Amino acid sequence: ADVAVPVTLTVNGRRHDLMLDPRVTLLDALRNYLGFTGTKKGCDQGQCGACTVLVADRRIDSCLTLAVMNQDVPIVTIEGLGAPESLHPIQKAFIEHDGFQCGYCTSGQIMSAVALLEHEKPPASDTEIRERMSGNLCRCGAYPGIVEAIRCVRDAARNPVA
Ligand code: FES
Ligand code: FES
Repeated sequence: ADVAVPVTLTVNGRRHDLMLDPRVTLLDALRNYLGFTGTKKGCDQGQCGACTVLVADRRIDSCLTLAVMNQDVPIVTIEGLGAPESLHPIQKAFIEHDGFQCGYCTSGQIMSAVALLEHEKPPASDTEIRERMSGNLCRCGAYPGIVEAIRCVRDAARNPVA
């Protein structure tokens, strides 16, 4: 029998009260119940990173965790990052440096890059950027642009333009 349980998720600064089957993943809750479809489902098994979101400032594959386990923590999706008229610097950099083609992996790439640059130790080299972004796959092979975008945002943070 289907049993729904109350689940409260705080997404992009807003609380949402839901009734969910406890087996619903965080990814499906975000996409199917809350309409945050910017977060993508690629593999649904932790291998592609398309579903990456921030939970308490840490990047996670939202397909690998249940919604019910992510209550009372701030969740950020791509929709919480910027809007077309006010893009986040990392979103801008992906556009400027051709960090995407079809775009399917892009919100996951960007959320991962935000965690990398804003909540983790900054990467020292392009090799390190590649390694630490290796959980985010891009079937289009936009990797050179992705690495360049991340490097430029890192460098801009180090040397702010006066
Ligand atoms: Fe979650 Fe691929 S959809 S890692
Ligand atoms: Fe197409 Fe990355 S831009 S999968």
